[in-house]
Amino acid sequence: MQRILLDTDPGVDDAQAILMVTAHADTKVEAIFTVGGNVGIEHTTRNALTIVEAIEQDIPVYAGCESAFVFEGEDAAYVHGNDGLGDSSLRPKSRQVEPEFAPTALIRMATAEPDAFTLVAIGPLTNIALALRMDPTLPEKIKRFVVMGGAVTGQGNTSNVAAEFNIFADPEAAYVVFEAWGRSGKLIELVDWEATIRYGIPFERVEAWRKIGSARSKFFDTVSNRSFDRPSLTEGRTKMFAADPLALAVVVEPSCVTHAEDRFVMVETGGMYARGQTIVDWNSRLGKAPNARIILELEAERFYQLFEDGLK
Ligand code: RIB
Ligand code: CA
Repeated sequence: MQRILLDTDPGVDDAQAILMVTAHADTKVEAIFTVGGNVGIEHTTRNALTIVEAIEQDIPVYAGCESAFVFEGEDAAYVHGNDGLGDSSLRPKSRQVEPEFAPTALIRMATAEPDAFTLVAIGPLTNIALALRMDPTLPEKIKRFVVMGGAVTGQGNTSNVAAEFNIFADPEAAYVVFEAWGRSGKLIELVDWEATIRYGIPFERVEAWRKIGSARSKFFDTVSNRSFDRPSLTEGRTKMFAADPLALAVVVEPSCVTHAEDRFVMVETGGMYARGQTIVDWNSRLGKAPNARIILELEAERFYQLFEDGLK
């Protein structure tokens, strides 16, 4: 059984990823850590509680960092709705957030059971960076670390065209995380925005999933409405981009990956045009040990099936 600690900024695709991972037989989400990102921490935390109630699983939710390490980043409410769940107005009925601060809970759990957990980050890396500042030995205590973030050849999705949202929202935090994992000699399994585009989900499949009729499928349909019905988000597209579900597919079934390359990845924190860019030393010019396993190709059908299994 793979045990997951999930750091997230729900977020429509975060919600979709949580549906997927919590339906997988060999995986158990043991904690959800929320972070500000797509929308503010109050919304992401409330959304995490809403999602946990919707899937009827007893997963503790810990609230984390409200804002980025240094400079305030832009949010993604235009994609996810002002409430972060497609302006669906869904709210938790009774579930409460845990009193413990997310970075503290992460350190406590990883220290109590070293090498027991897969840490998954599908939002800005602020919580992870703060935890690293509190406990620099954290990488040694984590079994696997999977990150949805970056754009490995500069094809991003933010106002800085070379930067992807999770990194651009807090470049200083991302810098701390990539640097620390590099120093530990362990690899970040990196699922970037460019892979998300390569493995977009054909809208005809999505339309079929909306009609499955299960409670999970109805929840998916309710929160994802902007992903299908908003011309500004779908115009000219034939596929739904699902960044966080793609990362969770790599988490739950690493065997679906068919091509990955280990490289040294740097995060740019300065620069008029480059802030938040993930710069890859593709030709190992710096001679530095890799800090990331960049996921380049995977079995699309397996990904789609895992996504669908989360909706039944
Ligand atoms: O760039 C995509 C990432 O940014 C996803 O994690 C999405 O939820 C947003 O946080
Ligand atoms: Ca996210």
